[in-house]
Order: sequence, then C-alpha cells, then structure tokens
Amino acid sequence: MPVRISPSILSADFVNLERDLDRIATADLVHVDVMDGHFVPNLTLGLPIVTRIGEVSPLPLDIHLMIDDPDRWAPKYAETGAFSVTFSGEAAADPRALARAIRGAGSRAAVAVKPGTAIEPWLDLLDEIDMILVMTVEPGFGGQSFIPEMLDKVRSARRLRTARGLDYRIEVDGGINATTGKTSIGAGADTLVAGTSVFAARDMAAAIRELRGG
Ligand code: DX5
Ligand code: ZN
Repeated sequence: MPVRISPSILSADFVNLERDLDRIATADLVHVDVMDGHFVPNLTLGLPIVTRIGEVSPLPLDIHLMIDDPDRWAPKYAETGAFSVTFSGEAAADPRALARAIRGAGSRAAVAVKPGTAIEPWLDLLDEIDMILVMTVEPGFGGQSFIPEMLDKVRSARRLRTARGLDYRIEVDGGINATTGKTSIGAGADTLVAGTSVFAARDMAAAIRELRGG
C-alpha cells in the first residue's frame, strides 16, 4: 500500500483555511479534528463547518472525531461525502453497528485508540473497518511529542492484517514529522497525519515530500 499523507488542519490558519488547503494540495487527504470539549479537553469545529470544508477542499476529508456519542454523530459526518470517518473506540456504545452505519452512509469507517487503550479488544471489529488509527499522543492538542511505545501497537495491527488477510489502513496521529514518520512506516503504518510539521514549515509541499520519504 502506498503511504498516504494527511495533514491536520488543526495547525492551519482557520481564518485563511482555503489558502492553507491549497498549500497542502500535494498531500493525499485532509485530516479534520473534531473535538467537543468533553471527550477531550479542547473544542474545535462541528458539522456545518466540516461540511463547508468538504465543499472547498481539493482533497478528500479524513475526519477524526474526538467526541462523546459518536454513535449519533459519526454517520452525519459520513453523509457529508467524507472519504473516511474515524470515531474514538472508547466513546462508542456499539462500535460494530457504528462502523456499518458509516459505511452505509458511503464513507470509510475507522476506529481510533488512545495511547492507554490496547488494540486487542478491537480485533473482532477489524473485518468491519477500513482503517485503525493508533494515536501516538494523547488526543486533544497539536504540537505534542510522539510516544515511541505506540509503535508496538502499529506492529501488532500490521501483523494481524497480514495474518488475517485483511486490508485495513494503519494510521498514526500525533507528533509525526520526517523522523517519527519514517519510524512509523518502518513499524507498519501506511497513513501519516501531521499537523505542526506540515503547517509550521515554510515550504509545505517540501514537508509533505519529506514525510513520504523524500
Ligand atoms: C490531536 C489530533 C492530531 C493533531 C496532530 O489530538 O488528533 O490530529 O492535530 O498534531 P501534531 O502533528 O502537531 O502532533
Ligand atoms: Zn487527529
């Protein structure tokens, strides 16, 4: 699977978002972090704004929900035409039904796990999802440092994918730059989210190229 780069607009200039979306046009996806101030101690944006971002973005949206009650909300995000909708596994009441509802609404379904959450309890779900998101920082804020211990989870997810003949993507999110991105790809990740390392770069296209491995 070719590596995909998904810059997180949490680090973009929200007042000049359309301009910033154009600057990352050489990426594969746009990562949109939806935070509700409950599941995580930070608040970002909601459905109307994400819908509008989807209308103007040259790239498909990789929506990352860090909210309570994703069972209610995630299908609505899928209906906006998003490429993928990731819900936080810890917050979902019925993850299997939710993954099916997201797919039923025409989007790819993904589950995210926080650093303290093992992936083993999610193994039964792996044939119902299109991607697993291994959080490599505590969700809530950009600009944190990559937690190297999370690479073991990436390796397990990759081993299981091969062992079971499945084709879900393995995404990492948090503290990803050219160095930690390379380590993550080495461990089996194939989709890299990067906020600070892309949007703080003077040349965003160059930063995206570096994340791909130069
Ligand atoms: C954190 C978000 C991330 C964040 C990553 O909870 O899910 O997507 O924007 O930002 P960096 O790349 O700066 O760690
Ligand atoms: Zn994210």
